[in-house]
Amino acid sequence: MGLLSGKRALIVGVASKLSIAAGISEAFYQQGAELAFTYQNEKLKSRVEEFAKGWGSELTFPCDVASDEEIEAVFTELGKHWDGIDIIVHSVGYAPAHELNGNYVEVTTREGFRTAHEISSYSFVALAKAGRSMLRENGSLLTLTYLGAEKVLHNYNVMGLAKASLEANVRYMAASLGEEGIRVNGISAGPIRTLAASGIKSFRRMLSENAKRAPLRRNVTIDEVGNSAAFLCSDMASGITGEILYVDGGFNVTAMGPIED
Ligand SMILES: NC(=O)c1ccc[n+]([C@@H]2O[C@H](COP(=O)([O-])OP(=O)(O)OC[C@H]3O[C@@H](n4cnc5c(N)ncnc54)[C@H](O)[C@@H]3O)[C@@H](O)[C@H]2O)c1
Repeated sequence: MGLLSGKRALIVGVASKLSIAAGISEAFYQQGAELAFTYQNEKLKSRVEEFAKGWGSELTFPCDVASDEEIEAVFTELGKHWDGIDIIVHSVGYAPAHELNGNYVEVTTREGFRTAHEISSYSFVALAKAGRSMLRENGSLLTLTYLGAEKVLHNYNVMGLAKASLEANVRYMAASLGEEGIRVNGISAGPIRTLAASGIKSFRRMLSENAKRAPLRRNVTIDEVGNSAAFLCSDMASGITGEILYVDGGFNVTAMGPIED
């Protein structure tokens, strides 16, 4: 019996085998969950279908989270296969690349600000809204965030603001859905090389600085994030909601890296 046996999960955000959502899917699959997936666009369709098969699923649906119609359609279609859902994983983030490179005040635009917040934060509550009637008691919603929500990190820029909004979203959604027995949490992951991360300038250097300063003296993997996600979405975490769990090798507790004496 896995931690997630008998649970049905919709995973939003698989784009490649490096995706954090891929690590989460693998862990959920190992823990006995039944899975369904969305893909952002036609370009990703066959790839996500292929991944889904590997995790025992035939259920894949198109969903650009910029579209309320596509979000609605996911649950209409899913409802034809499942009579309820226990978990929604939101592993989606985006800001235009030019906003993630350079002096924050100079490079931030009204349009980039709006897009970053809409795709990276609003979409989480949009999924909850559309999926609410299908969510079963003891259900769990999970999103992925980053320390840039709280502290200034080089070139993270407007994504930091969008993640701050997303973390507030976690708290308000938790309060809003708690009486229906639904929990809402976020994982603040340490930096991991993925497609989204490669949009951040100097990401490679960030990874090596991060590994030096983190108490564990290394970076985390998508498997480690996946395992923590499985715990948070399981009944083992039944008392936890509105929370941000750091899966970052402890980086967030430090103020400075180790110093050679
Ligand atoms: N990689 C890291 O270092 C890191 C650290 C902390 C948090 N995160 C967060 O983890 C989440 C997943 O990112 P990742 O690093 O796995 O990268 P990724 O590129 O593999 O995943 C990002 C996903 O967002 C999806 N997406 C973007 N715009 C979309 C839209 N309009 N509609 C639907 N889907 C859309 C992409 O299709 C992709 O699946 C993001 O929220 C990211 O900010 C990443």
